[in-house]
Amino acid sequence: MATVTDVLHANDAEKVLPNGWTVKRLYDEARQATQCAYAPYSGFAVGAALLSRDGRLFTAGNVENGSYGLTICAERAAVVKAISHGVSDFVAIAVAGDTDRVETLASCGACLQVLAEFDRDDSLLVAFPSSGRLLIATVSDLLPVRFRMGL
Ligand code: THU
Repeated sequence: MATVTDVLHANDAEKVLPNGWTVKRLYDEARQATQCAYAPYSGFAVGAALLSRDGRLFTAGNVENGSYGLTICAERAAVVKAISHGVSDFVAIAVAGDTDRVETLASCGACLQVLAEFDRDDSLLVAFPSSGRLLIATVSDLLPVRFRMGL
């Protein structure tokens, strides 16, 4: 069984993404997006910055609800924003919040499943802070056995 640390890549903040983006720059956008979070219940503002292959950026914060289970994580809010602009080919998403615990910002299972839906060749990257470093992993590293419709 893989542990979280097994699947983490080396610190790769300067990794160059398409259109001149770096993981570090994407992460900075995610940090900025925490300002857009609506998180009055948990008090935990999360920001996500989703980069499309053609270099377009879609940012979002988590959107909580008084009926707690209706809360939408920042990652899923960013995906919905991109899809509603007709964009579905993604290369990376960065996630930020006021912690650097890997378990908290490497995306929850629900968000990984939603990201996997658009991960065409197992290359979609997730960038997140961990113990003072910025790490990246693929969605398929973090969710190796995703649900797929078997129709
Ligand atoms: N949250 C996210 O936005 N992304 C995640 O991957 C995990 C959790 C949000 C949901 C909720 O508003 C708050 O963090 C506390 O769970």
